[in-house]
Amino acid sequence: MARLGETQLFAGLRLPGHLHTQQSLRAASAFPFRPSDVLLVTYPKSGTTWMQEILTLIYSKGDPEPAKSIPNWARAPWLEHTYFKEFLQETEGPRLFTTHLPWRVLATALRKAKPKVIYLARNPKDVAVSFYHFCRMANFFPDPGTFDDFLLCFLDGTVHYGSWFKHVKGWLSCQKEMNLFYVTYEELHQDLGGFLERLSAFLGCPLQPGQMEAIQEHSSFASMRENTMANYTLVPHEVMDPSKGQFMRKGIVGDWRNHFSPQQSALFDKVYQQEMGDCGLSFQGLMD
Ligand code: A3P
Repeated sequence: MARLGETQLFAGLRLPGHLHTQQSLRAASAFPFRPSDVLLVTYPKSGTTWMQEILTLIYSKGDPEPAKSIPNWARAPWLEHTYFKEFLQETEGPRLFTTHLPWRVLATALRKAKPKVIYLARNPKDVAVSFYHFCRMANFFPDPGTFDDFLLCFLDGTVHYGSWFKHVKGWLSCQKEMNLFYVTYEELHQDLGGFLERLSAFLGCPLQPGQMEAIQEHSSFASMRENTMANYTLVPHEVMDPSKGQFMRKGIVGDWRNHFSPQQSALFDKVYQQEMGDCGLSFQGLMD
């Protein structure tokens, strides 16, 4: 498999060389968006795949067919990945894209067309746990070492994809300027129905009650875990090693409590306070 062990450096970020080249990253940063496009933005392990499934199901009005017959990376391709062009559709109407890139890299391209942006955040303690497990099974990341080693890199932003804190702050700084819909993984868990109403209104894609129920059913963790078009089991084992873990791991809120020592949690809270304390943004209990 190509470039599994390589790291690509771009705009001060380390990214997996298996999925990114300088060319693919430059193309992403200059992408000609259209106002009708929809861009899903996440820091890795924040529930990207869940949201891709929900978006697919909203546009299909609850019909599971597209979600069950087309891989998620073709339904909502990553702007910055090397294979992006393969999946780029020139059709009219909303095109769905995904990105993990920071706002500063995409700002110029997005300001030109102002597409709809959905920013999904997750409690960073749970992100760190999920990311750690993912780095152990996905061979396009360096070996994360112990959880303690990984956590220190996560806190100082030297992990692949950079600092969680900078990612969130950067994207939320453009909330007013851009047409940006902010939501958390925790809110999806708490009230998926209420969230679907708000998101479908934002997208201008109203849903009937039966359609809402179908979306909830087909985007559930249990359903997605069985869906080969969403659970990444189609990826060759030398790229994602199923003997080391599953992509659809637990899908719960608060798993950090099973991984963090009291010292690690205290250090995390301290760094969170330093980084986010005075940024003036409301995260609606993200760290509870
Ligand atoms: P865990 O590792 O905590 O289980 P991403 O898609 O951004 O890589 O995020 C992956 C995380 O989202 C994983 O978290 C995965 O289990 C979780 N996830 C995926 N689909 C989900 C769903 N339908 N419901 C809840 N969590 C889901």
